[in-house]
Amino acid sequence: KCAARIGASVLDCDTASLAAEAQRALRAGVDYLHLDVMDGHFVPAISFGPAVIAKLRSHLPKVFFDCHMMINKPDEHVEAIAAAMAKHPDTGEVLTQYTFHIETTEPRGKTQEVIDNARKHGMRVGLALSPGTPLEQVLPYLDQVDMTLVMTVVPGKGGQSFMVDQMEKVRAVRAKYPDKDIEVDGGVKVHTVDEAAKAGANMIVSGTGVYKVEDMALAVSTMKRSVEL
Ligand code: DX5
Ligand code: ZN
Repeated sequence: KCAARIGASVLDCDTASLAAEAQRALRAGVDYLHLDVMDGHFVPAISFGPAVIAKLRSHLPKVFFDCHMMINKPDEHVEAIAAAMAKHPDTGEVLTQYTFHIETTEPRGKTQEVIDNARKHGMRVGLALSPGTPLEQVLPYLDQVDMTLVMTVVPGKGGQSFMVDQMEKVRAVRAKYPDKDIEVDGGVKVHTVDEAAKAGANMIVSGTGVYKVEDMALAVSTMKRSVEL
């Protein structure tokens, strides 16, 4: 069975103190960091890029980084994220994942290229789909990737409402792949995590649900318990 993991999206933390804010979430019990890269094109906003992620790696050599590339040309930034590549010194586990959107690669026939290039650099690979994208688009590639990211908001910003209708996709992927990681991202909080867990998601991203609550550790442990059940 897939391990239940809670990932903190740092998008809405105090990003000027990114390493400290990441540490704060890790101390509160999150299992990994979800790093939202935004380019001002695939989504309107611009967040931070691979250079910042590479710097963050030196502060956090043993933490899993899920790099969520909300950018139009993920084919052009694989090497830059690979600069943050790391393996766990004890377990050998790959700690850097390149998660890109099928909407950006499929129309240009670049999906396979991105998967192959990320692998060549030793990274784990995640394939994301936005709410408006039918599951059929990603199905041909799921055998080859480590994780499917089912977006539960329209990508672009934190603090939006969880789209429960996307759970249909989670259920379908889980039925086909009992052992593969499925991540949900967007609007996941203590109140919405159950729906995602019930559908079969095991990697749970939460941004404002972690950083904009009174008791971070309580929110994280509550969400984790829901997914472990
Ligand atoms: C949305 C980003 C998410 C977002 C999550 O475009 O991909 O990772 O920051 O934030 P919450 O949990 O607040 O929806
Ligand atoms: Zn994200």
